[in-house]
Amino acid sequence: MGRVYVFDHPLIQHKLTYIRDVNTGTKDFRELTDEVAALMAFEITRDLPLEDVKVQTPIMETTSKVISGKKLGLVPILRAGLGMVDGILKLIPAAKVGHVGLYRDPETLKPVEYYVKLPADVEEREFIVIDPMLATGGSAVEAINSLKNRGVKNIKMMCLIAAPEGVSLLQEAHPDVDIYIAALDEKLNEKGYIIPGLGDAGDRLFGTK
Ligand code: URA
Repeated sequence: MGRVYVFDHPLIQHKLTYIRDVNTGTKDFRELTDEVAALMAFEITRDLPLEDVKVQTPIMETTSKVISGKKLGLVPILRAGLGMVDGILKLIPAAKVGHVGLYRDPETLKPVEYYVKLPADVEEREFIVIDPMLATGGSAVEAINSLKNRGVKNIKMMCLIAAPEGVSLLQEAHPDVDIYIAALDEKLNEKGYIIPGLGDAGDRLFGTK
């Protein structure tokens, strides 16, 4: 069963409050999302392996630590996932970025893949799939299916806000995937929005309606 980590760092919680606020405009929403994504990246990379290297300081040579060659891949789910990429890249500039695009089939209401582009060396990378909202979980499950079908082995899911329904579906479909979130909200409403949530993340990021 995938574990759920709720990042309760005060800075993350503080900024998330303003992200939720209906009075926060597009520019601030985008900047705050970027900042929270960076703070979450700081937490999510806590377990990266380190190795010793020699370094010459102005005083003497010493042994110090660097991240030991672990390759990371970020995969935003289009389009709202894009809003979290730059914040993560600020901390992990060497990460490669893939993309997964999904649309909802009007008849089955299930997400269908229309675009997937991943880095070439997928088997050597650990991937973080990114979507601000884990609502029904359908898109996250399908995006992770797309990655696994292309040989990806190691996946984490990162979201700002999750609904319990989305967490359960993802845990059932992909028990090997841990879920990293800033908040676990109450539930979905009848239109599939997370409540209290933050509204439509894509619209708020890009100023559309
Ligand atoms: N997607 C969103 O952008 N918001 C929700 O509340 C649910 C899905």
